[in-house]
Amino acid sequence: MKNIPNDILQENIKKHLIQPWPYASSIGDEYREIVSNGHGIYIEDAEGNKLIDGPAGMWCSNIGHRNEEIAQVMFKQAMELSYNSPWYTSNEPSAKLSKVISDHAPGDLSNVFFTTGGSTAVESALRFVHYYYNVLGTPEKKLILCREDGYHGSTFLSASLNGKSRTSDWMNYQNDNIIKLSSPNSFRKLQGKSIEEFEDGLIDELNEVINKQDSKNIAAFIGEPIQASGGVIVPPKNYLKRVREICKKNNILFIADEVVTGFGRMGHIFASEKVFGIVPDIITFAKGVTSGYFPLGGIVISNSLIKNLRSSNHSDAMFGHGLTYSSHPIGCAVALKNIELMENGILDNVLEIAPIFQSKLRTLLDLPIVGDVRGEGLMACIECVADYDDSNPLTLDLKVGEIIDKHCQKLGLLLRPAINMCILSPPLIINKSDVDNIVSILRKGITLAMEELKSKGIWNY
Ligand SMILES: Cc1ncc(COP(=O)(O)O)c(C=O)c1O
Repeated sequence: MKNIPNDILQENIKKHLIQPWPYASSIGDEYREIVSNGHGIYIEDAEGNKLIDGPAGMWCSNIGHRNEEIAQVMFKQAMELSYNSPWYTSNEPSAKLSKVISDHAPGDLSNVFFTTGGSTAVESALRFVHYYYNVLGTPEKKLILCREDGYHGSTFLSASLNGKSRTSDWMNYQNDNIIKLSSPNSFRKLQGKSIEEFEDGLIDELNEVINKQDSKNIAAFIGEPIQASGGVIVPPKNYLKRVREICKKNNILFIADEVVTGFGRMGHIFASEKVFGIVPDIITFAKGVTSGYFPLGGIVISNSLIKNLRSSNHSDAMFGHGLTYSSHPIGCAVALKNIELMENGILDNVLEIAPIFQSKLRTLLDLPIVGDVRGEGLMACIECVADYDDSNPLTLDLKVGEIIDKHCQKLGLLLRPAINMCILSPPLIINKSDVDNIVSILRKGITLAMEELKSKGIWNY
């Protein structure tokens, strides 16, 4: 392909490309830095500046960039079969992958439906749940419980579950049938309570909602085991197990959204059982399943739910849901190779590196602007606060995450800034010296950000 000069590409982007999540003032007119290259844990911009890919793209470049084995698989599969209609045919890669995923899924979760990404996975799970109860003769079971600080996607129904209230939200949502529970984020919320009391409070709230709404109207609870985009919120120790138990007792389906926690980020293909000790009824996955080399997602559904449908009185009840690219042969072939690579050392690397990554990041807590460093596995969040005594977040306008990211980028590390937070979820192939490098850049970048805030008289440390 002919090399087009960077300024022309920039012009094209500004004139013709609508970026995701734009503001009205810049919609269709926004330039975002072109990434021209990726290699291992690094990405390079058009000027050749090399950066550690701190967020692994969007929590997805799990095995790292430019993996030749994956590239070969994509090429080979495209040359053999680039596409087949899942409406009336099947293909070999999806046949193999559904078995591999089922073998890794906890409990009796052994029925896989493939989608094109995370939002479509969540959307499929919710549509399945409603269909399930309709077919079983309990159509009144419609309510979905989700949580503040959750993120589940950008399609109408999945976005309706998102828990970040934006002060000026201009979008429409499906508000009927959706109930938001409190976030399990204990930072700033303890107010003299112990973490156990905080956990009890969350459980009390869930029980109250069930009592008020009546479990016969509640279809499902959906939650990320660790809320990722909400700021890497690790729930109190027994919270997920207790929620799972309550759901079981009240005949409410439990959907674990493992779009981020799945496929290696916590050192396992699925984290629900191995890390959190729970067996959900449905798991949603995406992102790391192909390490970002191909858009693929899906849901794994418990066999007992499928059996219940098969033995219902409505053999004519069609699950009227499917995507042109469900079970895409190239996506499934990539996922198979990706899982093989993960099992051949990458998952072990995560189990070894993650505790080091977490403990070294926590050394940043001595910086006055850093209020909280949290995370588990290879996902973490540094949350900035105004000062040690006052644990209010820095004002939204200050966007301190962006200031830190700007300084860290100059030092060779890309972050994911989110208001007063910096999120990190590096490729799973990082080693100990990469961790040292990341933490030392962060220390310098955060210090420079503090100096900038001070010199501008915005904040005084
Ligand atoms: C937990 C979770 N679920 C669902 C989604 C939506 O995935 P996608 O952007 O692939 O549609 C995301 C995306 O970040 C996510 O973090």
